[in-house]
Amino acid sequence: MTNVIRSVEHVVHLLPQTKQLRALHASIRDRHAQREDFVFNASRIIRLLVEAGLELLPFEPHDVQTPVGRTYHGLRVSSQICGVSIARAGESMEVELRAVAPGVRIGKILIQRDTTTKLPHLFYAKLPDDIADRHVLLLDPMLATGGTALAAIEVLLGRGVPQEHVVFINLLSAPEGIAAVHERFPLVRMVTSSIEERLNENAYMLPGIGDFGDRYFGTD
Ligand code: URA
Repeated sequence: MTNVIRSVEHVVHLLPQTKQLRALHASIRDRHAQREDFVFNASRIIRLLVEAGLELLPFEPHDVQTPVGRTYHGLRVSSQICGVSIARAGESMEVELRAVAPGVRIGKILIQRDTTTKLPHLFYAKLPDDIADRHVLLLDPMLATGGTALAAIEVLLGRGVPQEHVVFINLLSAPEGIAAVHERFPLVRMVTSSIEERLNENAYMLPGIGDFGDRYFGTD
């Protein structure tokens, strides 16, 4: 699996593993964490991830005049963007996206595993009409097997979004999920704050965080 990760290095953007980030991870991975601490610290990591995702968008030169009469040769994002959250856990990332991109359009996709076939089933998709002309920040904190991710990306491509316009943002990623996404959609870029060891027999990541949605929304 390490070889797969190595071969996808150019599309997987792992946040720098700073002391600060590891402290935030220790806080949210602690099984005894209080919910408000979990939400607060997970949101801090999500903010870093969203900022890193914005870095992958196209930029164009943008000069401005400073108050002291000089020109600053800067940049600005040259593409329209939108967010798409994969319900339910992905909704936890919407606030942080709105905080850095006020007024951003946010679509939603709900995919659940069919209890009989065990295959991911699309229940709901509400996306901006002009999504094909935008770069998409696809939001799901957990990339485990990749089944849901593949189905969600399929929906985006079906609406005309090119693979290379999709930036998939996850808090934790399993090597199995990264490999699944990369094998099917080699141009999709991924941003994560941790690549975990592996999945357990119940498809939870190890060392992991447990059920992110339950811990974030208080339904455990
Ligand atoms: N979803 C979660 O919430 N946690 C995992 O470890 C895997 C999928």
